[in-house]
Amino acid sequence: MPSAEVEGQVTLLLDGRRRRPALGRAMASLMEAAALPDGVRLRPLTVDDEDEVARLAAELGRSADPEQWRARLEVSGYGRPVCWGVEVDGRLVGQVLGHVRGDDFGLSGDVAWLEVLGVLPAWQRRGLARLLVEAFVEDSGSRGLSRVATLVNLHDQPLRRFFRSLGFRQSALLSMERRV
Ligand SMILES: CC(C)(COP(=O)(O)OP(=O)(O)OC[C@H]1O[C@@H](n2cnc3c(N)ncnc32)[C@H](O)[C@@H]1OP(=O)(O)O)[C@@H](O)C(=O)NCCC(=O)NCCS
Repeated sequence: MPSAEVEGQVTLLLDGRRRRPALGRAMASLMEAAALPDGVRLRPLTVDDEDEVARLAAELGRSADPEQWRARLEVSGYGRPVCWGVEVDGRLVGQVLGHVRGDDFGLSGDVAWLEVLGVLPAWQRRGLARLLVEAFVEDSGSRGLSRVATLVNLHDQPLRRFFRSLGFRQSALLSMERRV
């Protein structure tokens, strides 16, 4: 079927295992490479950030319910969270949230699923999403994982290009759904 007729999402995978520097050093070099202005900071997000994460999500048109975001930030039966944020002068302007889960969808071993990525419009096109995804990948690698996966809308070519430029490739997993 030509891709123009296909509804839905594709799964992208970043695969590979390599020797990694310690996480702190890796993050410092990511920040340096991104040449961020003073006052911009990359940092891990924890449950204590639930209000800021909910505030940013709401500004990006998602749920403003802190409880929902808390559930994503804390260790739970769902998986181990991998969450990073970029703040400017102490205010969160971008975030990436995901989970490490094992044996989902017939995949063998643990995979870090990148589930939510967002940067405030005023801070877009400055490389912050790139920095966040690189941080997500470094963090996953430092936990011994060899794979990061995400889902993107099949028709969102800019987003597909974005992930492609970061080394993600289309995987053999196909998203399927049924209306209820
Ligand atoms: C997608 C998103 C996170 C990109 O954030 P960003 O900080 O602007 O991204 P970066 O600056 O790191 O990279 C920008 C690159 O991504 C590409 N890109 C990805 N998605 C894009 C989009 N929707 N519109 C324009 N460019 C996009 C561009 O090619 C751009 O490259 P360029 O600046 O060299 O032209 C941001 O647009 C956003 O938050 N959108 C709303 C939420 C969303 O769609 N999230 C993704 C699904 S969870």
